[in-house]
Amino acid sequence: MIAVLGLGFVGLTTALGFSKKGFRVRGFDVDKTKAGVIASGKIPFFEADMQEVLDEQLNHNFTVSDTLADAVSNSKVVFLCVGTPSDEKGKADLTYLLAAVGDILKSVQKGSKKIIVVKSTVPPSTTRDYVIPFIESKGFKIGEDVIVANNPEFLREGHAWKDFIEPDRIVIGTQDDYAKTVLGEIYAPFAVPVHYVSLNTGEFIKYLSNTLLSTLISYSNEMSMIAMTIGDIDTRKAFQILHEDKRWGEDKTCMMASYAFPGCGFGGYCLPKDTQAMAYKAGEFGYNAKILKDVLAVNAEIKPFWIEQITENLPKTATIGVLGLSFKPHSDDIRQTPAKAFLEQLLAKGYTNIVVYDPIANDLFDRTYKLPLTYKNSVKEVAECADVVAVVTAWPEFKEQKALLNGKKVFDLRYCL
Ligand SMILES: NC(=O)c1ccc[n+]([C@@H]2O[C@H](COP(=O)([O-])OP(=O)(O)OC[C@H]3O[C@@H](n4cnc5c(N)ncnc54)[C@H](O)[C@@H]3O)[C@@H](O)[C@H]2O)c1
Repeated sequence: MIAVLGLGFVGLTTALGFSKKGFRVRGFDVDKTKAGVIASGKIPFFEADMQEVLDEQLNHNFTVSDTLADAVSNSKVVFLCVGTPSDEKGKADLTYLLAAVGDILKSVQKGSKKIIVVKSTVPPSTTRDYVIPFIESKGFKIGEDVIVANNPEFLREGHAWKDFIEPDRIVIGTQDDYAKTVLGEIYAPFAVPVHYVSLNTGEFIKYLSNTLLSTLISYSNEMSMIAMTIGDIDTRKAFQILHEDKRWGEDKTCMMASYAFPGCGFGGYCLPKDTQAMAYKAGEFGYNAKILKDVLAVNAEIKPFWIEQITENLPKTATIGVLGLSFKPHSDDIRQTPAKAFLEQLLAKGYTNIVVYDPIANDLFDRTYKLPLTYKNSVKEVAECADVVAVVTAWPEFKEQKALLNGKKVFDLRYCL
């Protein structure tokens, strides 16, 4: 029996994934509204395939618990999938994680060897320096009462289900043999390599992955800014030719090549906060993470750079159309979406006639950020009233309908049309 705490993008996918593989899973979320939506049979965010799996698994292998105690006391293993946002300095905020661990301990019997698996992304040394001392400070013995492991999650939003159910590899950070056996059994049905590593190594691998991705993106954006500054360079073509190097691999849509491509910056819940948290953690240990700091600086710089291009000779009375609000296509996630900073900066420059359209994120963006924008229901509606158009998220429908933009000045910030 498995408990999953936190039923967000990662937690709900994890819970349904284990459930699909035949394990009995109890999920719990402190957000009663979200838990209620899931218990009533609905996925609270947009993610392909997940609704069908919830329809199939809810109240069969997967149930939503009303209390954390119900989920935890009925399970051998507890997967922690709570948020780990960054604070204003960029440091990973462990408040939710430690609160959840504290709550779990209230339902742990001494000697029960309850396995707590941190699936949330936490900087290397977090389990060793914070989670284990916290558990010990509550009078629990590591290895006897509680065993702690980590199991970083590599799923991509927009492909969460497929990535979880068909992972490339599994990483388990623990030195405890019992935890290795139990977690090995849980992951056996996935039939992929399972790597057992130290706690710090498990945590580090996740940041190794995410900071490489953010570095590739900022590298590409810096090169695109250089190209635009020099002029007479076909940036998109140049990157496409770069990708023809066979070392990038064949499938350009999901391989590293898709990150070595210019745009208007990375966003979402993971790359910005994880790059910040890694740089911060390195600093705490006395190492100045120069590349990571520049990766973040370039990510900030790319938006005003584009805005300069768009607003050159553009009167303040002009209507600017913006296509795309979510941080990436096939997702309605607007956390740290580049569109937010981009729109705020346009507004701050005095452009108040802005019309926007996103295929699925209009309402959420409006409710969350409350910016003075006019929301439209299609590319056509934007095209009808905008003087210039900026494409900020690479939704396929924008390319499919690009004929509607004929005759307009279009700034393709994602090189996707
Ligand atoms: N989103 C991604 O693409 C992704 C991918 C890999 C790893 N991660 C990592 O996974 C973690 C979760 O990310 P997410 O995107 O799913 O976040 P999320 O905000 O969508 O979900 C987190 C959930 O945890 C719940 N929660 C908070 N405290 C709780 C508690 N004490 N008990 C039970 N539930 C609690 C919240 O209500 C929320 O629903 C983060 O550390 C993130 O960095 C995210």
